Amino acid sequence: MAKGKGKRDAAVKRQYETLPYPPRDPKDEAARLIEGSPSHLDELNHYLFAGKRDFSQPFRALVAGGGTGDAAIMLAQHLADRGKAGHVTYLDLSSASRQVAEARAEARGLDNIDFLTGSLLDLPSLNLAPFDYIDCCGVLHHLEEPVAGLAALVSCLADDGGMGLMVYATLGRTGVYPVQNALRSLTEGDSVGNQVKLAKNLLKDLPPANWLNKNKVLGDHKLGEDAALYDLLLHPRDRSYLVPEVLDLLTETGMQLVRFIEPVRYEPEMYLKDPELRKRARKLDTGARAALAENLSGSIKTHTFYARKLHGTAAGEARFDPEMIPVLKDNNAEILSRTLAARSSLTVHFDTDPVTLDIPDGAADFVRYINNQRNLREIQSEMSMTWPNFRTAFAPVYKMLQGLNLLWLKSS
Ligand SMILES: C[S@@+](CC[C@H](N)C(=O)[O-])C[C@H]1O[C@@H](n2cnc3c(N)ncnc32)[C@H](O)[C@@H]1O
Repeated sequence: MAKGKGKRDAAVKRQYETLPYPPRDPKDEAARLIEGSPSHLDELNHYLFAGKRDFSQPFRALVAGGGTGDAAIMLAQHLADRGKAGHVTYLDLSSASRQVAEARAEARGLDNIDFLTGSLLDLPSLNLAPFDYIDCCGVLHHLEEPVAGLAALVSCLADDGGMGLMVYATLGRTGVYPVQNALRSLTEGDSVGNQVKLAKNLLKDLPPANWLNKNKVLGDHKLGEDAALYDLLLHPRDRSYLVPEVLDLLTETGMQLVRFIEPVRYEPEMYLKDPELRKRARKLDTGARAALAENLSGSIKTHTFYARKLHGTAAGEARFDPEMIPVLKDNNAEILSRTLAARSSLTVHFDTDPVTLDIPDGAADFVRYINNQRNLREIQSEMSMTWPNFRTAFAPVYKMLQGLNLLWLKSS
């Protein structure tokens, strides 16, 4: 083992034993469930299983580098809400993080999670495979060899399964690495507590023109949480990815992209008004369009995405077919319908970037019928329309809401 690598491995472990991330209090479980992307059960069903996975049947999920438990708890709760067949395996290097995650599961009365302490690099030898779904968020970019880490996960994935991943994005993190380098040169070798203290002092006097100060998308160092400050600016090992590098990472490990989340952020037309430029952007392939969107946006600080095996049998993304049930993420048809009825365009803020979308005609009417139980055929018949007319009218509404990651499809 290279000396530097061993030292960095030890420093990564020390960080997460001292400052489990993200900071969570198990008592908060009584008040709320943290839900998000990836790994919301309806979302992963939509993107990886064509919306057709039956969660009353066995379903094995792995959360690799599970931290303080956000994804494992959300997944385990969603699966428990659908019966007893689903199971989650949580794995993390840090036993302090695991303790928090376990206490959260206990607070919720969840008994469908196995907790393991160890490295995801050792997964192939643990004989746990195959998993139907693997979540790995905010972890691969901290490994010495991210490709080896992802390859270890791929070796445990069922051929018809898929993954939800998150890695840092280069452009939205503009300013992070010069400050990380500065702090490394000044504080490497200090205790975690001392590093945090010195980092706070350095931030107080950072010149206005420093890129970290100029980057309005980044705020983790201003939350007043030592764990967040350390993760952003004192991490012993992290790297970031541009879209083409994400695609290369997947190709190198025999995986392929299904979708970046939120899909609309990776559409260049969101950032282009000129008709000629929009026409040219439309001619690019999906990867080139996503890369262009990242170059234009400036606010994408993480890449969250679903992926499946290149030669696997995962069904992929759900389709706007009659038997599919539209599912609103927040089950808020009434409010959303009123919002859509009141205007002709919708402006959504992703971090600091406002994205404005034209609202297709009839959007409010369609949304009013969604109750997360009726399928599209039933909605079509309640609206007294033929299927072709219904599809022509509402496929664009579906596309807009799915692009914002507000609407998914499921079959039952
Ligand atoms: C930034 S935290 C993210 C936690 C969680 N995935 C989330 O998104 O909330 C990174 C986590 O990865 C864990 N980790 C780092 N390297 C690992 C490895 N080789 N195997 C397993 N876990 C690892 C750390 O201990 C830490 O809990």
